[in-house]
Amino acid sequence: MPRLTVEELQALKPKGEKLVMLTAYDYPSARIAEEGGVDVILVGDSLGMVVLGYDSTIPVTLEDMIHHTKAVVRGSERALVVTDMPFMSYQASIEDAIRNAGRLLQESGCQAVKLEGGVHMAETVRRIVQVGIPVVGHIGLTPQSINQIGRYRVQGTTSEAAERLREDAIALQQAGAFCVVLETIPARLAGLITQRLRIPTVGIGAGSDCDGQVLVWHELLSYAPTFLPRHIPRHVKQYANVGEQMRQAIEQYAAEVRGGSFPTTKESFRMDKSLLAELEKTQA
Ligand code: KIV
Repeated sequence: MPRLTVEELQALKPKGEKLVMLTAYDYPSARIAEEGGVDVILVGDSLGMVVLGYDSTIPVTLEDMIHHTKAVVRGSERALVVTDMPFMSYQASIEDAIRNAGRLLQESGCQAVKLEGGVHMAETVRRIVQVGIPVVGHIGLTPQSINQIGRYRVQGTTSEAAERLREDAIALQQAGAFCVVLETIPARLAGLITQRLRIPTVGIGAGSDCDGQVLVWHELLSYAPTFLPRHIPRHVKQYANVGEQMRQAIEQYAAEVRGGSFPTTKESFRMDKSLLAELEKTQA
C-alpha cells in the first residue's frame, strides 16, 4: 500500500475531512497505529519523556530520533511518518537545520520533519522546504522552550499573545510548512487560525475546530501514566487503560511463577519416552 502523501493530507481540509495523527516510537506501536488507521505517525520528541524517562524533551538527540524513527518506518506502511527535530538540531543555524533535517530523512526513512517556532523559524522552514523536505510547524505550547515558559500551560491567552500566534501560523504557511500543530491554546483561537489558513491545523489541547488532532501514544492508552513526569493534561482522552492491564498481567505472572502454577506440563515441550528413560538411568 503506498504511503499517504503531503498532497493527499492537504486535500482533506477542503473536503472537511479530519486528519488523524498519533505519536509512536517503536515497531509494535507503529504497527498498531497503522492497523488502527491513523493518517500520520509522529515520532515526537515526547519520546524523551514517555519512553526514555527524562523530565523534558531537552535531552533528546538526533541519534535518538533516528534510532526510534527507523523502527516506526519499519512498522508502518500507509501512514506518513513525521519526525521531530530535537532541541538544538535546528536553532543554531539554517545550515545545521538543513543538514539535520536531511539526516533525519536519509537515515531514518521518515517523510517529513516537525520543528517548533513561528515567525522566528519561518526562514529556517523555507530553506528546509526548498531542498525538498516537507515540514510540519508547531506553535502554541512548545515544550523545547519549557525553561523559558516555566510550566506546561495554556498559551495565547492575552490579545497580544493570540495575535502573535496567528502571525506565527501565517508565517509558517508562507514559508511552505504543509501543516501546523497547535498545542494547548484556546479552542476559539485555534478555530480562527484554522479558518485563516489554507494548510491544515492539527490540534492537541486546542479544541475541536482544528483540521485534525494529535495525541501522545502513552496518554491516549494510559500506558504507565504513573511514571510520566508530566501529569496527564486536561485535553487528553484516555481511550484505554493499557498500563493497568499490563501491570495486572505481570502481577499474575509473578504470582504464578512463585506459586508454581506456571509453567504447567501443558506449556512444556514433550520428550521421547525412551530417550527420557535412558537419561533417567544414567542420572547420578
Ligand atoms: O513530541 C510530541 O509528541 C509532540 C506532540 C505533542 C505534538 O510534539
